[in-house]
Amino acid sequence: MQLAIETNNLTKKFGHTVAVNNLNLEIEQGEIFGFLGPNGAGKSTTIRMLCGILEPTSGKGTVGGFDINSESEKVKEIIGYMSQNFGLYQDLTVNENLNFYARLYIADRKTCNKKIEAAIELLELGHYRKHLAANLSGGWRQRLALACAVVHDPQIIFLDEPTAGIDPVSRRVLWDFLYELAHDGTTLFVTTHYMEEAERCNRIGFIWQGDLVACSTPMGIKEGFLKDHIISLKCSDINQAYKILKSTGRVKDVNLYGDAIHIVVEDAAAITPYLQQQLAAADIEVVELKRINPSIEDVFVALSKGSGAV
Ligand SMILES: Nc1ncnc2c1ncn2[C@@H]1O[C@H](COP(=O)(O)OP(=O)(O)OP(=O)(O)O)[C@@H](O)[C@H]1O
Ligand SMILES: [Mg+2]
Repeated sequence: MQLAIETNNLTKKFGHTVAVNNLNLEIEQGEIFGFLGPNGAGKSTTIRMLCGILEPTSGKGTVGGFDINSESEKVKEIIGYMSQNFGLYQDLTVNENLNFYARLYIADRKTCNKKIEAAIELLELGHYRKHLAANLSGGWRQRLALACAVVHDPQIIFLDEPTAGIDPVSRRVLWDFLYELAHDGTTLFVTTHYMEEAERCNRIGFIWQGDLVACSTPMGIKEGFLKDHIISLKCSDINQAYKILKSTGRVKDVNLYGDAIHIVVEDAAAITPYLQQQLAAADIEVVELKRINPSIEDVFVALSKGSGAV
């Protein structure tokens, strides 16, 4: 089967900044591919090259079998793109925005209207038809942007942080919608900073300073990309424990996770007695101190700090 997206040493430089460095990706049709990485890592730049709106400095790529350089017009016909800042027309209503995007791709007015109605229904936008995009709240504007990106039934959809800043219910609506699209064979390339969304992807790529430093299933990422051990600590005084652990100089990293602290160490068994002794000396009552399997967030925090990766 033809790959939906393929890149071969795709590179983009802005002056001395290497925004994307020799990126190699193979994404299958119907896959939900999550693209993660810290701010400035190169996610949006990658998407803009794949959508045929930014010329690569070097390397190649195909989307839906079309060359992103020489066939960018063909690429644009088969993709949907929700950019990080949406690209909506603020002075047009919900209906007018949808109409604008649908008419770009669909000549027949009847088909056009049918698709618009389907998008409005799926994303529950009916109540807002006549509202100006400018007057919608952030979350509803996001739904409208998604509706505009999918209204013409594209084969491959690029979504750049589609759920940034929206409430959990809206986020669920959007993800249910994305699952449905993927189930019908649409390929989704999604960036997100939410780890629970990363868990929902078939595969995840992690980009750091332009380099793809990890690419696997969520399970594969958790099992294969961290050589350090993670110890979870729950205790009577989490703030005090955090300070103590930070200052020991004998652990690699310390991160707060809700009511627990995740301690990154080289060897959990070897260091546990020392940690117990340090906490006891400060009169901190330990509720839990045990090695746990890393979460995706543990792996990505380590990768983002440029340490701990296999
Ligand atoms: N048009 C441009 N001109 C110059 N530098 C740019 C341009 N676009 C992006 N960059 C730089 O390229 C790098 C990657 O930026 P990019 O927007 O791809 O990051 P990102 O991973 O999408 O980040 P975020 O999570 O903040 O959206 C950054 O260093 C950024 O400053
Ligand atoms: Mg971005």
